[in-house]
Amino acid sequence: MRHLIDIQDLSIQEIEDLLHVADDIIADPARFAEVCHNKTMATLFFEPSTRTRLSFEAAMLELGGRVLGFSSASSSSATKGESVADTVAVVSGYSNIIVMRHPKEGAPVVAARHSDVPVINAGDGGHNHPTQTLTDLLTIHREKGRLDHMTVGLCGDLQFGRTVHSLIAAMSRYEGIRFVLISPDELKVPDYVKQDILEARGCDFAEVRSLEEAIPELDVLYMTRVQKERFFNEADYVRLKDSYILDPEKLTAAKSDLCIMHPLPRVNEISTRVDDDPRACYFKQTRYGKFVRMALVMMLLGLEEPA
Ligand code: NCD
Repeated sequence: MRHLIDIQDLSIQEIEDLLHVADDIIADPARFAEVCHNKTMATLFFEPSTRTRLSFEAAMLELGGRVLGFSSASSSSATKGESVADTVAVVSGYSNIIVMRHPKEGAPVVAARHSDVPVINAGDGGHNHPTQTLTDLLTIHREKGRLDHMTVGLCGDLQFGRTVHSLIAAMSRYEGIRFVLISPDELKVPDYVKQDILEARGCDFAEVRSLEEAIPELDVLYMTRVQKERFFNEADYVRLKDSYILDPEKLTAAKSDLCIMHPLPRVNEISTRVDDDPRACYFKQTRYGKFVRMALVMMLLGLEEPA
């Protein structure tokens, strides 16, 4: 039985296969409409979500499966003090696959240990978000035709942004990737990402503060929200929240084929005036999320592509 806790649980080959299946689904979704007949997905969301939960549920429904679950800790027995281990032991008796988001780093590892069915990490605290990364990789691959040899700018809250950590872990495995890490000093990538991933793999990266200075060299610009819910004090959040705002003026210096991404939700990081720019990929990115999650569910349930 396979789980997806960390993006590095998947080999490069498996990621390539998943993106390939996702492309096939995009080309002919009707062919996949019965693949998950009689299968049930449980979505256990102990933390708020719009895209991740709904795209997983849409993915399962479009594969012909069923969904059940809860969308906030307050509507589960967590409020009565039930442990993740117990919740998952119970829910794995009601479902064939579990998708879980939790505010505590490492909670999905505990869940996997107590589950009889595959567990997918849909975001654990400020740590990881592997299925957002699959979404991001599919987006980059479809926009650029490759996942190697490019300069990727990551901008905003690189400390608490779990999507950033997982994307770095994934893309640092490809050749010729240069990362430009754009953040205020207080929100740089955590040491474990820098030492255990970037430096350990001999990755080319620079940590800078200015988005304007970095923009001309980028092939991909990944904007992120300052993660309000992970701050210890409100004053720090207020001081840092509008550190970067991407607008059409800043984009005049960018490449004509720049791919602008954001995991969403957006607060102020990207002006709505950018939305009509052909380089804006963030809404397309949300649509790709459903298809790559369909491919992932099929893989973890051991289901083949129908003929
Ligand atoms: C992200 C998350 O939950 O980490 N959202 C998402 O899943 N698309 C990003 C964020 O909340 O800022």
